[in-house]
Amino acid sequence: MLQIIALSSQLGTNKTLAVNVYDQAIVLFRDKDGKVVALEDRCPHRRVPLSLGKVIQGELRCAYHGWTFNGNTGACTNIPNLSAKESVPAKLKAKAFIVQEHNGFIYWQRSDSVHVALPPAIFSQAIYLAQNEGIANLTLSMEAYRSVLFDGPEMLISLYGIGITDYFLGDVIETEYSITIDRAADWQLTGRKPSWKSPDYPLIIRSEIFKHTTCAKISLLNSTEQVLIEVYLSVVPDKRSTSRVLWQARSYQAYFDSAPLLNKLKCSWRKNLVKVHEILNANSINKLMLGPSARLQSINVQ
Ligand code: FES
Repeated sequence: MLQIIALSSQLGTNKTLAVNVYDQAIVLFRDKDGKVVALEDRCPHRRVPLSLGKVIQGELRCAYHGWTFNGNTGACTNIPNLSAKESVPAKLKAKAFIVQEHNGFIYWQRSDSVHVALPPAIFSQAIYLAQNEGIANLTLSMEAYRSVLFDGPEMLISLYGIGITDYFLGDVIETEYSITIDRAADWQLTGRKPSWKSPDYPLIIRSEIFKHTTCAKISLLNSTEQVLIEVYLSVVPDKRSTSRVLWQARSYQAYFDSAPLLNKLKCSWRKNLVKVHEILNANSINKLMLGPSARLQSINVQ
């Protein structure tokens, strides 16, 4: 499985970033060429988290006794108190992981899982009007988050000026790579309240879950399937059934071109059209009927 574990913007030069995924503690930092590298967040000497250390000339020096590790190989490259006649034993290593920076995210390929190629692009268009990104820490497991994203995306995400209905547009579509469901949506500032009654809504919310990853995409489309907004989300499983959602969003000119006048006026000053919720309404989630997410149980995320 290919797992996004951080946003690129979280990791500055000469900084460490501790992340936890599937109970594996990892420290990320950049080597001297700026490439992202990853080690187990545990010093092989006395188990101190390496993320407490310092990045010096692209290598990570442990905060406790100062052993230094190369992020690409994990090899220990320096022990401060060795005499001039001694050298660092070759077997001294921290566990190194393979990570790649791509599309504004940092990806980790679990070594014991199905190999998945990096997606060439996560958004449908290169030119956009506004973008934003963020992290949401949630008391919801990765599986539950994906299922709510499919059955009731409005509980997890808000698109400014858009009302999402429960009115499904067709059946779940499954391909080799993803599972998708469409539902109707409407401009909310127009005074029309989304309801079950009218099948005649001008907008579509497409929820797409990607197989062999923990990624999903929510897209807002108009009736001719032009993309107005896209939100790409990666759900990172964390300890005790919590999860961390790393997301990026883009809005396109088509949003403003398609919007009714009232929405246009209200949105012209508003760049961030997307909000990924961090505080969830457990009562509403409990009441959510099991809908298209029943199909997700067949997806292998490993
Ligand atoms: S615990 Fe890291 S160098 Fe000793």
